[in-house]
Amino acid sequence: MSTDHLKIKIISHPVPERLLDESKNPKPHIHSIERYKELYQESIANPTEFWGKHANEFLHWDKPFENVLSGGFEHGDVFWFKGGKLNASYNCVDRHAIKDPNKVAIIYEANEPGQHRSITYGQLFRDVCRFANVLKSHGLKKGDTVAIYMPMVPEAVVAFLACTRLGVIHSVVFAGFSSEALRNRIRDADSRFVITADEGRRGDKTIHIKKIVDAALKECPNVKRVFVFRRTGSEVPFDSSRDLWWHEEIEKQRPYCPPEIMDSEDPLFLLYTSGSTGKPKGILHTVAGYLLGTAVTFKYVFDYHEGDVYGCMADIGWITGHSYIVYGPLINGATTVLFESTPIYPTPSRYWETVEKHKITQFYTAPTAIRLLRKYGREYVDGRDLSSLRVIGSVGEPIQPEAWDWYNEVVGRNECAVIDTYWQTETGSIIVTPFPGATVTKPGSATLPSFGIDLAILDPITGKELEETEVEGVLAIRQPWPSMARTIYNDHGLYLKTYFQHYKNYYFTGDSVGRDADGYYWIRGRVDDVINVSGHRLSTAEIEAALIIHPSVAEAAVIGIHDDITGQSVHAFATLKQLQESVDVKELSLQVSKGIGSFASPRKIYIVKDLPKTRSGKIMRRILRKIVSGESDQLGDLSTLSDPSSIPILIETVKNS
Ligand code: WTA
Repeated sequence: MSTDHLKIKIISHPVPERLLDESKNPKPHIHSIERYKELYQESIANPTEFWGKHANEFLHWDKPFENVLSGGFEHGDVFWFKGGKLNASYNCVDRHAIKDPNKVAIIYEANEPGQHRSITYGQLFRDVCRFANVLKSHGLKKGDTVAIYMPMVPEAVVAFLACTRLGVIHSVVFAGFSSEALRNRIRDADSRFVITADEGRRGDKTIHIKKIVDAALKECPNVKRVFVFRRTGSEVPFDSSRDLWWHEEIEKQRPYCPPEIMDSEDPLFLLYTSGSTGKPKGILHTVAGYLLGTAVTFKYVFDYHEGDVYGCMADIGWITGHSYIVYGPLINGATTVLFESTPIYPTPSRYWETVEKHKITQFYTAPTAIRLLRKYGREYVDGRDLSSLRVIGSVGEPIQPEAWDWYNEVVGRNECAVIDTYWQTETGSIIVTPFPGATVTKPGSATLPSFGIDLAILDPITGKELEETEVEGVLAIRQPWPSMARTIYNDHGLYLKTYFQHYKNYYFTGDSVGRDADGYYWIRGRVDDVINVSGHRLSTAEIEAALIIHPSVAEAAVIGIHDDITGQSVHAFATLKQLQESVDVKELSLQVSKGIGSFASPRKIYIVKDLPKTRSGKIMRRILRKIVSGESDQLGDLSTLSDPSSIPILIETVKNS
């Protein structure tokens, strides 16, 4: 493949001097590129020793493990820390509460500025125990599944940890998903309990969470109990035969609950994510490996030191929230910020006011937010005291050099390490990233592999490993790492097929990638039918499935189109059933909001007579993408189309929409 585009002049940025000045800042854990290389080599050459050592350093074991790693990719039977026993909530809370109960665990920055509160490790310990006792008193036990559909409040974190205290598997559903999407996830995981809230607040919007849960549960007969946290206090529907108020239930319980001691490979949680198929996949993570992966990356990638205040702006409903708001920081005994609002509420200064107020040292957000704030202009950043910041991170999608530069100059004032971190729900923790004190960065590149991540670039067609330095291909991983997903809930076959059978003996990420002359990795984007809108991972097949539920729609095809702010946006094509002459496209959009959530709604819907198809009936989305992107003159070879004459009409329809 061509590597010409790698030759664009990119300016490299050395590690900011300020970070290496020990009179001003703590010495970075990984303080030079040599140190990074040394540790990285060790982690690849001798993973057993490397991870064994770290497992003892980062985790409290109730029973030591006997064996670091067994199994492999072929059967998907990777097994880390066999024989070991531990509890996640003990590791995240108890040991810090014992050592320093007054240390702040969570800073809750509520939607309304000025309404913030801090929760200490001592208090978190009592809250988690109390709520664990509530769950226990209603019969929940190890191995059960619970759905969590919560706004960004500290009680959501309490709910996560209370589940893990009992060995209950949490399945968190992002509170932007619709009732139908929530229902599908509750049913797939067979969750018997739901933990939720009356309402949520985001910016000037109220999210009617309890009503959405009620609608979802209409077809979930197995759900016996719903715990409702009172966030806004508004009147909400309440079914007293099923629903219980959080505040009334915890009143009954004492603030101690013994932790359930789990095996290393017991499930910790499920998190649904989108893939190539219309049905979301329940990604399963296990206790020891996941905790270790998030803990080690949190400490080294964010260069966390005692006394830091770390702020990740993601939502706990996504993997970033799980790994880098909750588990990674808490395992390290850190102070983690829980941000309930939006970057522009009440003004586009909100992030920076939050950084200034809490003296945040590490700040983590998504490129879509950076692009949005850049559009508003630097006047919203200037004048804020951001001198506490040392590390500013980005996650979720490729960050364009222009956005990177703005982040570096305006937010970081050229004095912070900018870390573009690449990873996935399935990898559990960051896998390609700079290290603040060590890595020379290049805007747009996630740079180098994290510890224990043995990257390979493969030729997408032949599957052959491309061994030269400067190549383009698809990104794969050669060896297991502790925080990798262990299965897809109830579908191990799909797990093997999706990740390990495209390319034998490799984990396949689904992303294409380039490697430059310095060995730096440049993530280009998905090669499957996954699109990325504002850092939200969406499946085109899932949106198409929602569209064709509409009675007028015969067929639908969804594509992702470049967007300057959201990265990509959803564009949908639909053909109508015979006899239907027209349809209100608003209804189709609503269909997607209902089926998935409004964040997945198409930016544009084109009603067309025909979709371009191959003779075997496969829709050629490539052609749709070109037409919408204004590249109708570069459609390429159309000879495989069943009806090339449909193309000019299609071009005309798009033009006129
Ligand atoms: C994309 C989010 C480029 C990628 C943590 C991946 C990125 C998908 C980056 C996973 C990055 C994530 N640069 N692309 N720094 N980070 N991605 O599961 O396509 O929601 O496969 O996990 O997001 O999305 P997920």
